[in-house]
Amino acid sequence: MTEQLNKSLIWDIMHVTERAAIEAAKLRGRGDEMAADKAAVDAMRSELNKLDIDGRVVIGEGERDEAPMLFIGEEIGTKNGPKVDIAVDPLEGTTLCAKSLPNALAVLTLAQGGSLLHAPDIYMEKIAIGPGYEADLVSLDKTPAENLQSLAEAKGTTVNDLTVCILDRARHSKLIEEVRSAGAAVNLIGDGDIAGVIQTTDPDETGIDMYMGVGGAPEGVLAASALRSIGGQMQGRLTPLHESHYERAAKVGITDLSKIYSIDDMVKGDVIFAATGVTSGTLLDGVRLDADVIETETLIMHVGSGTVRWVKNQNQVRTNS
Ligand code: FBP
Repeated sequence: MTEQLNKSLIWDIMHVTERAAIEAAKLRGRGDEMAADKAAVDAMRSELNKLDIDGRVVIGEGERDEAPMLFIGEEIGTKNGPKVDIAVDPLEGTTLCAKSLPNALAVLTLAQGGSLLHAPDIYMEKIAIGPGYEADLVSLDKTPAENLQSLAEAKGTTVNDLTVCILDRARHSKLIEEVRSAGAAVNLIGDGDIAGVIQTTDPDETGIDMYMGVGGAPEGVLAASALRSIGGQMQGRLTPLHESHYERAAKVGITDLSKIYSIDDMVKGDVIFAATGVTSGTLLDGVRLDADVIETETLIMHVGSGTVRWVKNQNQVRTNS
């Protein structure tokens, strides 16, 4: 049996995403995406480097030459601890944060070394539904109408009662049309498909039954790691939209771009996933910044101990007086 991640890492990781979210939250609604992203990256990196792990960034801010921090391949931690793969999105939804719109998150996955898919920084076609259904109920090889029908039957309802979350992009006009023609409603989001995928795990609360569409591949692996912990089904297929994307895929050894990745193909072994709300949304409350207290909400999950927690933390702001 493979060694599991130490449970104490759950609290360490939660602290890391909290710090990133707090720093990004200070720049909510300021219209400066880069500044907000940098604040989250700096905080996340500085906190990660305090941890007793021998970590390597597998999914990060980009290649070494384009990202000064948390670049792919960067070694993280004190090295006095387990070998781990790290996937980060310090500010998922930079535009959401800059415009103070719902569902901006600070996101981090920590997994046993060698267990995360090295997803190239290109796009990925995704489909996801919540837990409790027979395996492969939905598939990227089926049409949207077929997938909706399968889910409706499994739920004992009709397609008319289903809602699909889709990123509001021109590339999705045909998909949106197909989903609506099949009878389902569409919940269009401006950004943030990690939250979009996670929302399918609790349709009663979120109103989202299925996620479909093309978003970032790195975000796909992060979302898959969340679903591996909380339950649910997801498939992904890399989708190059520009010439350079083929090169990026080849660089990480991926040449078969027709492959459909299951959750297990994207994430293996023990995993801790954490997301802290930066702005309030359907998934999490955003950071509350008051003069004397800072409040955060974090969703933290650990496959090894089978735990899923929503944690509200209040930190007193220290003054020098
Ligand atoms: P950023 O936080 O990097 O801005 O990403 C937000 C996001 O909406 C992701 O959730 C999604 O996977 C991706 O961008 C989609 O990419 P694009 O905006 O190019 O369609």
